[in-house]
Amino acid sequence: MGIFADLELSLPIIQAPMAGVATPELAAAVSNAGALGSIGVGATDAKGASQMISSLRGLTSAAFNVNLFVHKDPEPDPLAARTWCAAMSTEFQKFGAVPPSELQIIYRSFAADDAMMRVLLDHTPPVVSFHFGLPEENRIRALKETGAILFATATNLAEAQAAERAGMDAVVAQGFEAGGHRGLFDPSQPDERLSTETLTRLLVAQITCPVIAAGGLMDGADIRNALSWGAVAVQLGTAFVGCQESAADVGYYSALTQAAERGTVMTDALSGRPARCLVNHFTTWAAKQTAPVPPYPIAYDAAKSLHAAAKAKDEFGFGAQWAGTGASRARFMPTAELVATLAQEFNASGATLAKSSSGATE
Ligand SMILES: Cc1cc2nc3c(=O)[nH]c(=O)nc-3n(C[C@H](O)[C@H](O)[C@H](O)COP(=O)(O)O)c2cc1C
Repeated sequence: MGIFADLELSLPIIQAPMAGVATPELAAAVSNAGALGSIGVGATDAKGASQMISSLRGLTSAAFNVNLFVHKDPEPDPLAARTWCAAMSTEFQKFGAVPPSELQIIYRSFAADDAMMRVLLDHTPPVVSFHFGLPEENRIRALKETGAILFATATNLAEAQAAERAGMDAVVAQGFEAGGHRGLFDPSQPDERLSTETLTRLLVAQITCPVIAAGGLMDGADIRNALSWGAVAVQLGTAFVGCQESAADVGYYSALTQAAERGTVMTDALSGRPARCLVNHFTTWAAKQTAPVPPYPIAYDAAKSLHAAAKAKDEFGFGAQWAGTGASRARFMPTAELVATLAQEFNASGATLAKSSSGATE
């Protein structure tokens, strides 16, 4: 398993770094169970990240991954922001609230966050991963000098080649089925929308660094399948959202239990970047809008305000309920039990494969 052997993993499974959902407790439970736990610090600042990494270190002595968002900071456009907020005003009114008078850039990109870089150099996480793009060369070099193994998400071949050229140790092939934000480097460019299988097979054929498959993978048989496409490991997000240690709120859990009826949708209206979410009141409202959505993370400020106003009146249907196309197969159990279940299913599906390939019959 190469780099995964260096990390002393006993399972080729990475729990996706889900900013706002994956807690240090969840990531530690995954790492302690022999897979790779991850936290996402894209929705917090350097101080918050430092606290998260310290708590995670306190809960596990095994390897873990810290994930950062590396996007281009947006150009603020106050007029577009006001137009977007005005479009939302009827929804705010339903909860006795008004939209914000202006929208803020609520999250900094790692690309320009020196304080976050210092946190990484101080804490030296065993794995550091990047979403939405790649940091500049000297940051990559400095992180490698700490001994960190580096991953980057790619949604197409060009992004994967850029990640490989930049010296990433593995590329996460994120298919269109995946829950949460598309890792697109430039969301203004057309999205090829490659499936997890197509993208994984393409990258395995075209690049030399190891490929991790992500998107729509929910059980041990899915994991075995993804490895048969040539992936060295898999990254699962949605599968972990329903775990006890997840920070998903009660409305998110409940929406996940109804995933078969709701389905999922790719929308840029929640945050300003395309992301896959369970169909809910927000995505239904957003699908009818014609005003341009402000760029990431400016739109997120508006959506989070509306969610807070709605939640204060016990309406949870306006949240960012990220989930992949496999959501209806989510399981609700403690994290350690889910990892053990995945391992057991993975081993059982291997035995089935071995049996069928040796021609054995019952
Ligand atoms: C709730 C949620 C939050 C996510 N947050 C992040 C994140 O902070 N950083 C990141 O690189 N990927 C994030 N992702 C995407 C995952 O890394 C991964 O691509 C995706 O979960 C795989 O698809 P699946 O959800 O169908 O398993 C998130 C996914 C979900 C479901």
